[in-house]
Amino acid sequence: MTRSSRAPLTVLVLAAGLGKRMRSRRIKILHELAGRPMAAHVLEAARALEPLRIVTVVGHQAGEVQEALRGLSDEFVLQAEQRGTGHAVLQAAPLLRARKAATLVILNGDLPALRPGTLRTLVASHRRSGAALTLVTTELDGPSGYGRIVRGNGGRVARIVEERDASPGERKIREVNAGIYCARASALLPELQRLRPTNAQGEYYLTDAVERLIARGQKVVALRVSDPEEVLGVNTRAELARAARLLYARKAAQLEEAGVTILDPARTWIDPRARVGRDSLLCPDVIIEGASVLGRGCVVRPGCRLVSVVAGRDVEFRDHSIVLESRLGDGASVGPFAHLRPGSVLEERARVGNFVEVKKSRLGKGTKAPHLSYLGDADIGPGSNIGAGTITCNYDGEKKNPTTLGKGVFIGSDTQLVAPVVLGDGAYVAAGTTVTRDVPAGALAIGRCEQKNIEGWVKRRRARKKVARS
Ligand code: UD1
Ligand code: CA
Repeated sequence: MTRSSRAPLTVLVLAAGLGKRMRSRRIKILHELAGRPMAAHVLEAARALEPLRIVTVVGHQAGEVQEALRGLSDEFVLQAEQRGTGHAVLQAAPLLRARKAATLVILNGDLPALRPGTLRTLVASHRRSGAALTLVTTELDGPSGYGRIVRGNGGRVARIVEERDASPGERKIREVNAGIYCARASALLPELQRLRPTNAQGEYYLTDAVERLIARGQKVVALRVSDPEEVLGVNTRAELARAARLLYARKAAQLEEAGVTILDPARTWIDPRARVGRDSLLCPDVIIEGASVLGRGCVVRPGCRLVSVVAGRDVEFRDHSIVLESRLGDGASVGPFAHLRPGSVLEERARVGNFVEVKKSRLGKGTKAPHLSYLGDADIGPGSNIGAGTITCNYDGEKKNPTTLGKGVFIGSDTQLVAPVVLGDGAYVAAGTTVTRDVPAGALAIGRCEQKNIEGWVKRRRARKKVARS
């Protein structure tokens, strides 16, 4: 089906409520899981429908919500007072009319595990049946907290009753409302105008529109989904953690399917946006955040955290390394216990080893800094060797200064490079030198105190001590 052959869709996301059960100062739908605010996951699923536009209803912390959802939501509508889900949709009604929205998909903002496929099924089923409203339902063993689906004649949906308004008998109903709807705008919006807040919470319930539509002879259809997990609303911190586990488990399964070995998927958190090449190996307690990209055959050892990293093929991240917003060429390696800070580049086969910190620096092809160093604001040519304990003194108390090394440079251990400083190709720096001036290509820089050996000193000292004791 081409896009033009479908009637255009408008998605409305409800994201104005505070979410008291989170016990937070922060609005519920901004709480993060799998690297993004809860509502961003919902909007991402909605975008897969390729709707004409996505409109988000904001209220609590409206500024922050708009900021967080910029680029995902096309328009925002303010619900200044949170008087219920029906009231929230109503705030958008003038905009929806102005935009001539015909078919509406309405989503609660607290459904981070929602999958695009479910939304597609919902829209298709809605179109097939010609219903005024189609809603997603599922059966739960513990339906507590959800609106229950009351079915009447012939098993048809009669109404939705919220937990707090339900009779003991209704509370036993296990079929619940997921908070995912598809509706004909021209049928739904007029009914919302007629809602009354005559319920336990004194709110205007979107769910009350079901009974009203039916009373007018309109068709309401329930689409029952068999996998309740993806439509579980997040209302508490425990549910937030559960939803996060679900998103990570899905990502792990997808990577396994694509040829990645994950030794313990339950202990490996990969951002849904990240990509990992086939034949890569991910060990336990690895966290990959942001839209990181790892090529084929990479190995990530236990305890590594990678944030927005771009790595080529066969890159190894050894144990307990932290790599932030950096690029690594094919065959490069870091760690164990290395820290690559933002803006670092390791070219092909470059290596940064034990207890090395790199900040905004480039290491050329095959260059190695295997032990105990700090390299900041440095540009290092290919084939160079940085000895243990090399420190770029890049900060003079006021500003950061660059260190530039040519190709094939050898830096002996325990060297300070006082920036700004330039070392030419093939330069050599003797161990223990403090480099304060540029070193020409091919030159040796040596700046250490001359060593004296005092013959027989140890023996004479012992003798002196013996005399003193007696
Ligand atoms: C709602 C449904 C319930 C369903 C459940 C599924 C109603 C009346 N009840 O209950 O039947 O089983 O979702 O998770 O709709 N919101 C606003 N403005 C408001 C109130 C809420 O934008 O004035 C937003 C919230 O930010 C949230 C969504 O609507 O994203 C749902 O609100 P929530 O309070 O979580 O509704 P539930 O009580 O869970
Ligand atoms: Ca909810």
